Amino acid sequence: MFVSKNLAVNEKGHLTIGGIDSIELTKKYGTPLYVMDEDLIREHCRSFKQSIDKYYGGAGLVCYASKAFCCKAMCKIMMDEGIGLDVVSEGELYTAASVGFPMDKVCFHGNNKTDGELSIAIEKKVGRIIVDNIFELERLNKIACKAGIKANIMYRIKPGIDAHTHDFVKTGQIDSKFGFALETGEAFEAVKMAIALDNINLVGLHCHIGSQIFDIDPFVHAAEVMINFIAKIKSELGYEVKELNLGGGFGIKYTDADTPVEYDKYMEKVSAKVKALCSEKNLELPFILIEPGRSIAAPAGVTLYTVGGIKNIPNIRTYVSIDGGMCDNPRYALYKSKYDAVVANRASEPKNETVTIAGKCCESGDLIGEGMPIQHVEAGDIIAILATGAYNYSMSSNYNRIPKPAVVMVKNGSSRVVVKRETLEDIIRNDLE
Ligand SMILES: Cc1ncc(COP(=O)(O)O)c(C=O)c1O
Repeated sequence: MFVSKNLAVNEKGHLTIGGIDSIELTKKYGTPLYVMDEDLIREHCRSFKQSIDKYYGGAGLVCYASKAFCCKAMCKIMMDEGIGLDVVSEGELYTAASVGFPMDKVCFHGNNKTDGELSIAIEKKVGRIIVDNIFELERLNKIACKAGIKANIMYRIKPGIDAHTHDFVKTGQIDSKFGFALETGEAFEAVKMAIALDNINLVGLHCHIGSQIFDIDPFVHAAEVMINFIAKIKSELGYEVKELNLGGGFGIKYTDADTPVEYDKYMEKVSAKVKALCSEKNLELPFILIEPGRSIAAPAGVTLYTVGGIKNIPNIRTYVSIDGGMCDNPRYALYKSKYDAVVANRASEPKNETVTIAGKCCESGDLIGEGMPIQHVEAGDIIAILATGAYNYSMSSNYNRIPKPAVVMVKNGSSRVVVKRETLEDIIRNDLE
């Protein structure tokens, strides 16, 4: 009935999240409120991990892409599940370090890391630094030399794959700001350079072809392109690349129109391709890393809002205004991302109305969605936007000086705050007169 399996309706007709009444949550914590289901997050982690065990003999590491949703509690859950972390900034790295996350399981990404970030990565002994360009390689070599170590790196490669997704979240094609291009020879020249440097240890290659992808074929194709490149490096340079990081990007169900494949199938097909190619080309099987973000966090999250004014413009549309908006969920404004909405206190009623859900920011484009089917809705109702666990809290802002909502984690029938609601005092904390 709902896009995420942890959602249901109780005897009061209220939406429940991980078995907890969403209306009770709003009474306890207020709105807007991000709610995350810890049990579902853990289940996702385990299913990715198990797929590597089942199809690839466990010779791999799942690294949760923390950009999807990062806070101390989330890093702790990942640590507890024994999976690694993909970080993309000093802030994400700092959050991980603050809970004692094992740094050897961290992949540090980014297309424009500062010297400060590279130094911290070296100082904290981050397991793999994903180098994006030669400017970064040269700076990293110097920083590692000063520290008297060899930095373990992977190269981010653009494999030239069209991932059939939104233009802004496509990353594998040649016209991308991320990584080295294969088809121009840029990546091969970069490999030669890395091998020649004293303080660089090129352990692997990385690619990430995009996000919210439903088709397994582009992933299999990317693995094929990458293994062929590893084979070329071995035959022409005599250098064995030991690790292959295939990134994230697995699609999730935001609305009924989305048809994600079982993540298990991904590893099954990718492993088969990698094994076949490696045996054909006489290569050692690489250690495989994957970096799911959205697929771990998004289905586990729901955002709860209180409805304010409702504006019916005859023959045009009905605007339903909520007490949040693009400041806590900018994805419709950015990508026209579609969501499912439910009136949480009338969740058992049929969806007979079609509305535009508008935020409270001073921006016409501040919408959560247009043409959204929903139950009858009135001022004071609670609207739940489903599958908001990824790229919502992490992409939130203080636009219009609106404090960020709290994040509540539900688990086993109980709830706890994992990120406090911002206060007005937080809003002016760094202001000077
Ligand atoms: C390098 C890299 N890895 C992993 C991810 C996570 O992607 P997703 O959340 O779609 O799984 C991203 C997303 O931008 C990324 O850039």
